Amino acid sequence: MQNVALSLENVSLERDGKVLLKKINLKICERERWVIFGPNGSGKTSLLRIASFYLHPSSGRVEVLGHELGKSDIRKMRHLVGFSSAGFADLLRPNLTAQEVVMTAAYGALEPWWHEYSEEDKAKALLELKRIGVEDLCDQTFGTLSSGERQRVLIARSMMSDPGLLLLDEPAAGLDLPARENLVTGLSMLSKDDSTPPIALVTHHVEEIPSGFTHVLFLRHGEIIAAGPMQETLNEKNLSACFGIDLRLDQYGGRWSASMDPEH
Ligand SMILES: Nc1ncnc2c1ncn2[C@@H]1O[C@H](COP(=O)(O)OP(=O)(O)OP(=O)(O)O)[C@@H](O)[C@H]1O
Ligand SMILES: [Mg+2]
Repeated sequence: MQNVALSLENVSLERDGKVLLKKINLKICERERWVIFGPNGSGKTSLLRIASFYLHPSSGRVEVLGHELGKSDIRKMRHLVGFSSAGFADLLRPNLTAQEVVMTAAYGALEPWWHEYSEEDKAKALLELKRIGVEDLCDQTFGTLSSGERQRVLIARSMMSDPGLLLLDEPAAGLDLPARENLVTGLSMLSKDDSTPPIALVTHHVEEIPSGFTHVLFLRHGEIIAAGPMQETLNEKNLSACFGIDLRLDQYGGRWSASMDPEH
């Protein structure tokens, strides 16, 4: 049997009398790479925040790498999950180098001077930059990187603590076409590396699915409408139901594209 990295059982989330997530059941196992789709406000970020222990569900069971939320020490659990989102770039000082940005994650710090970094930390940071294809940028300051390069550095940062689960919330948001393609290539490299933990990537666009990703989940109004292996679950029916419009889906060279179906 495969090792389960994330297990959500009947997870629901309510806020101000509104149901944001309803009875979510999901298992993400070793080596799986998931893409999570859903319209704005469908609960994707809430789901990732629950899986990274930053949000407590109203009911249900959350287990990450054998640690059950509510039964284990949360401070020991947080480093198990790597998390990166587009907004995180704003929290970092622009004059840190890319390597420092990655290294600071080793101690959960945003600033480098609180800790003495070992040669091991430095080598590990370089390795993580390399795994996503941006080792050449290691000495460049974060503030001078393009948005796409920043996203890749942030993903390298989220890998610094050797997490058992990697959660990425819309890393391609706001990127231009070359930057998006470079990010997708980087994620594809990372996903094919056997030492990479299971990944859950939130996006709105099938064009952003890196080749090598294995599973897909569709959320609508806080409920899972379909989830499973990519080849059988990513189809026009599920995509159209998820976004509420008739969509045509095409696949070419391991990548996907979607557009409005002209027949409807
Ligand atoms: N603390 C809160 N209190 C009340 N409502 C909230 C709270 N946090 C989130 N919501 C609501 O929950 C819903 C889901 O939000 P969430 O951020 O998870 O959506 P999302 O799928 O990530 O959307 P997007 O694609 O725009 O990022 C939204 O309607 C949002 O307004
Ligand atoms: Mg969101």
